[in-house]
Amino acid sequence: MNETLQTIHSRFSCRGFNQDKIISDKNLDEIINAGLASPSAYNSQSWHFIACKNKNILDKAQQYAIDYLNTLTDKSTLEFINKIGGKIFYNAPVVIFITRPKETGKLESINSGIAIQSMAIAATSLGIDSCMCGFTSMCFKDSKHNEELSKLLKFPKEYYCEVSLILGYGIQQNKAHEIDKNKYTIIE
Ligand SMILES: Cc1cc2nc3c(=O)[nH]c(=O)nc-3n(C[C@H](O)[C@H](O)[C@H](O)COP(=O)(O)O)c2cc1C
Repeated sequence: MNETLQTIHSRFSCRGFNQDKIISDKNLDEIINAGLASPSAYNSQSWHFIACKNKNILDKAQQYAIDYLNTLTDKSTLEFINKIGGKIFYNAPVVIFITRPKETGKLESINSGIAIQSMAIAATSLGIDSCMCGFTSMCFKDSKHNEELSKLLKFPKEYYCEVSLILGYGIQQNKAHEIDKNKYTIIE
């Protein structure tokens, strides 16, 4: 396997991070640049990435996710998050919020998905662990919280966030998941 393939196959979702080992500015810049280099439909580059290292803001955001989940009748997601320690960002030192303009649709959502994977692979290549976090959308469900967090995180006007990429140096070394060869077909 070549180096690129090895990197792709060794990425895994990390859910526990070393608090004391910070990501250098150079590495963070390289990870974000990999996102910026991603393809996008019509080269729209329909994204703005916000890398947040501020613990107070991250703690606030995850608390707002919990607050939102507490308002739901269905408590299964809340129970799941409590079971994993109540922290959707797993105490990671950096969270990259993937934002995109409101009123955009499927293609822009795909653009974001491609960009987040580019950044995750870039992180793996630099020895940095990551986890994509769809729970992030819950931080912004309440309109007042959304307004406050959008300001704190300096979202561009009329942008919103559905997903983030959590980054840091893992305290666990999971293996990549088994690939399932039944999930593809080649037609000759
Ligand atoms: C769009 C998306 C959202 C995800 N959201 C979360 C999340 O909120 N929390 C989490 O712990 N993992 C999340 N994951 C990680 C998946 O659970 C993980 O990719 C999957 O279990 C496969 O494991 P692997 O990444 O280690 O190969 C998400 C992954 C994707 C692609």
